Amino acid sequence: MNEIEYYLKKILSVVGARPNFMKMAPLHKELLKYSNKVTHKIVHTGQHYDKQLSEVFFKQLELPKPHINLGVGSGTHASQTAEIMVKFERIVLKEKPDLVIVYGDVNSTLAASVVCAKILLNGKPVPVAHVESGLRSYDMTMPEEVNRLVTDSLADYLFVSEQDGINNLAKSGIQKDKIFFTGNIMIDSLVSYTKKAVKSKILSELCLSRKNYALVTLHRPSNVDKKETLEKIIRIFENINKINPGLDIVFPLHPRTVKMAEKFGLKKRLDSVNNLLLTEPVGYIDFLSLLISAKYVLTDSGGIQEETSFLGVPCLTLRYNTERPVTIFEGTSTLCGLNEKLIYSSIQKIESGNYKKGKKIKFYDGKTAPRIAKIILNKIIEWT
Ligand code: UD1
Ligand code: UDP
Repeated sequence: MNEIEYYLKKILSVVGARPNFMKMAPLHKELLKYSNKVTHKIVHTGQHYDKQLSEVFFKQLELPKPHINLGVGSGTHASQTAEIMVKFERIVLKEKPDLVIVYGDVNSTLAASVVCAKILLNGKPVPVAHVESGLRSYDMTMPEEVNRLVTDSLADYLFVSEQDGINNLAKSGIQKDKIFFTGNIMIDSLVSYTKKAVKSKILSELCLSRKNYALVTLHRPSNVDKKETLEKIIRIFENINKINPGLDIVFPLHPRTVKMAEKFGLKKRLDSVNNLLLTEPVGYIDFLSLLISAKYVLTDSGGIQEETSFLGVPCLTLRYNTERPVTIFEGTSTLCGLNEKLIYSSIQKIESGNYKKGKKIKFYDGKTAPRIAKIILNKIIEWT
């Protein structure tokens, strides 16, 4: 450590799974602007490790390689969370951070928050800031809901992406002065990379025409971990074909979904659906390009409900609840679950040009990272 580094305050960001990377990238870049005051290190837990789920995002989001990689990999919830905790605790003891930032609702988020709350550095726990705090599906069967509840109850600073998050935190009795409505940081990345996305060649590579395909992503255990629901999803694809036989369906497959389709013996049936194009998970820039030009999206992703709402692309959310209600009430999402009647009637509305258009959503403006960085620098870091 040189003399200058000695005086810098140290911030660690903990990330692990695909949706963490686009939430951390804008804040990393913003904190670099204050490099005379703070140093920001990226800790990758290794929860996601495939090139197409991890490395591609660091490259495309112009991030440095993670400063520290815990290399944890997949496992049961308990084993994955425990291994992150054991390894991250060693990092905290070595690095002695002034602040740890966690993102979203994945197991890496929960594990890092628990470590910081229980460790004592100079007699005090390590302060934690949670980006994308306050979201609630009120569905305790979702692993993410458990992660959100624990993280929010332990975090010292809560950065909220939509008004509903503020209301949820208030209801759970969290002190008001810890809560900051700073907006949706994922949209910062989207805004930064739209120009590059528009130049992507992915549409021509996949032989797709603008606004003549549906884009699908599915990875929630409630959809893909059960044979009957996966079968129902395949039937929905077959019926989309009947509604509009000229429409392509593009489905970048999450590894969890591939694993389950193979386990249930459904991969062949999936492969044989007409007009269905199955691909590997797609890199960020190409995926944004696919989103921008899609006629509509079918998804159970959290982040994609928000991205489609910002882009004005119709989104049929194949879930029965959402922790992001603004995407339904102000955005372009419709909560369909696997209710086939509702899915097909929504598709008919899209096909006939009668689907809702959505409004501009507060703080979906590309400026969330600067708002968060200012609060970190002016209100959180103690400069003694
Ligand atoms: C995780 C998050 C989920 C998030 C999703 C984003 C939790 C509890 N879940 O779900 O909230 O929406 O990431 O994509 O944190 N696998 C690979 N390669 C990888 C990573 C995983 O093949 O690089 C396979 C493994 O078989 C693994 C399975 O995918 O068992 C599930 O991975 P895991 O990280 O446990 O959960 P996700 O379903 O990816
Ligand atoms: N995404 C991507 N390639 C894909 C699928 C998704 O780049 O093949 C991006 C998407 O644009 C969004 C994020 O990954 O920014 C969402 O991640 P995911 O759906 O895995 O997680 P969730 O948001 O459900 O937690």
